[in-house]
Amino acid sequence: MLYSRISGTGSYLPVTVLTNAELAARVETTDDWIVSRTGIRERRIAAPDELTSDLALKASQAALDAAGLTPADIDLIIVATTTPDVVFPSTACILQKKLGAHGSAAFDVQAVCAGFAYALSTADHFIRGGGAKHALVVGAEVFSRILNWEDRTTCVLFGDGAGAVVLSASEEPGILATKLKADGRYCDILTTAGSIANGKITGTPYLFMDGQAVFKFAVKALAELAEETLRDAGLTKADLNWLVPHQANIRIIESTAKHLGLSMDRVVVTVDRHGNTSAASIPLALDEAARAGKFKKGELLMLEGIGGGFAWGSALLRW
Ligand code: UT7
Repeated sequence: MLYSRISGTGSYLPVTVLTNAELAARVETTDDWIVSRTGIRERRIAAPDELTSDLALKASQAALDAAGLTPADIDLIIVATTTPDVVFPSTACILQKKLGAHGSAAFDVQAVCAGFAYALSTADHFIRGGGAKHALVVGAEVFSRILNWEDRTTCVLFGDGAGAVVLSASEEPGILATKLKADGRYCDILTTAGSIANGKITGTPYLFMDGQAVFKFAVKALAELAEETLRDAGLTKADLNWLVPHQANIRIIESTAKHLGLSMDRVVVTVDRHGNTSAASIPLALDEAARAGKFKKGELLMLEGIGGGFAWGSALLRW
């Protein structure tokens, strides 16, 4: 049987650090409020001339190096992003050009904070179906560009960054199950409702979130999703070694961990230093933990993300 396995990981964070104290000087907030409600202490902000594809390129090069592959070996590129460089072409095509490659399939996936789970699941299906041998799967975002920096309810929450994995065909199991879900009835509780028409932006180009509604939805949906994914793979909570969750709020992460019976030392947490980097948060966390040598071969990892759409998704894999 053919599986897909992660053969390399990489990530990149812009150099500029924005602390809670700096934000407290701009809007009516405090370090204490942000830390106690979210767990976030600082986030990274891309330089004005740094694009999503630039962050994606650096993360991708690191993932390719870790996999011992070159861009020419890649036959599928999927970039999960909500903040593409331009309306079109896709950030995946721009990334392919920057990698100095051509000819592979390349496209973007837009599922906001669930984007990486959607992209990983898509690449897994390609590989298991024989449609690709080595896929580059990237989550990259510059959410700082869609924030209203005068709105304290959102501007303290997000950050910029990119993470990438190379997914390779293998006879040894890697990804065991993925599950993707969406419920468009909730599209208004987390949205950037601007659009481009006749040369102008219409609507609002800034992110809006009904935080409490999103919080409640996320806690319930992530707990159910983890159970369903385990069930699909014929496994139980007791088999899990690691949770690599979307990094939006430490309280949501703790709730999911508790539901899964995992202690927090089995959960990869980066939200304190990265904030919410949307589609980039899971691969950023995965790469950080992988490079720190946290995952042992054969251990079982649950990856889960949720966000605007509403869309949510998971991947259960053996390291
Ligand atoms: O990535 C996609 C998924 N996103 C998420 O999972 C995010 C989910 N939601 C959350 O993480 C939380 O709901 C937030 C962190 C956004 C907000 O936390 P909360 O505990 O739900 O706070 P709240 O919205 O109920 O606000 C409590 C109070 C309000 O004041 P009043 O009405 O009680 O007087 C807010 O106006 O806190 C106020 N507030 C702030 N105060 C200081 C809101 N933002 C801030 C702020 N600093 N930055």
